[in-house]
Amino acid sequence: LMVAFLLLLSACGTSKSGGEEKKTLRVVTDAAYAPFEYQDKGEIVGFDIDFVKAVIKEAGYGVKVEHVGWDPIFVEIEGKTADVAVSSITITPERQESYDFTVPYFLSKNEILVPKGSTIKSAKDLDGKKIAVQNGTTAQTIVENLYGKNNDKLKKFENNNLAILELKNGGVDAVVADNTVVETYVKNNPKDNFEFIEDDTAFEKEFYGLLLPKGSKLKADLDKAVKKVIDNGTYAKLYKKWFDV
Ligand code: ARG
Repeated sequence: LMVAFLLLLSACGTSKSGGEEKKTLRVVTDAAYAPFEYQDKGEIVGFDIDFVKAVIKEAGYGVKVEHVGWDPIFVEIEGKTADVAVSSITITPERQESYDFTVPYFLSKNEILVPKGSTIKSAKDLDGKKIAVQNGTTAQTIVENLYGKNNDKLKKFENNNLAILELKNGGVDAVVADNTVVETYVKNNPKDNFEFIEDDTAFEKEFYGLLLPKGSKLKADLDKAVKKVIDNGTYAKLYKKWFDV
């Protein structure tokens, strides 16, 4: 019985290598943001997922990724029930008040998704239009800053797929979300007849980071590992795999 108990213990959360205890980090995500994190036949996949696994392995830990949804990510990291979150999360000053981030790993920008032939040709054309965003994202903040917090034409959804579905169903005129996500959707769903609108004056550069609890002791190790994964060619390989360039 004792042996069975010890075996069970060692299968849970720690693994041994060279006599050193390796902790398994719990990573949470919102797997509804292809190609960064999404579900494919029940598996959580995407650029972010491969990237976070490479980084954590490089830092010398085990890794387990779990889909919890967008709002729960912040609850879990704040409550320290998860060690790391990966989810195309933009490093913003507001978030930095309550959380830590690793060094940046991806450059992004918001972009507009519309049906082909829409009268919306730039961000200013969104004024007075019905817009869908994922609740609690930089897209929400940007649209509210442009057109007011009490904009009753702004529909907020729990995840980005629901925002896109609303556009498909004709409930809104546009979706605002991260450029790579919008462009991937347009490319992979030609039957929807959508197109993307860039606007470099309205939408500023954003950088993704891995989200950590405030004061996390992992930050130094993970920062080093992020840089290593970028420097040793792993990042370029993953970039090629997911963004085929
Ligand atoms: N980059 C944006 C933000 O941080 C959107 C991220 C949404 N990520 C997701 N997995 N749904 O606000």
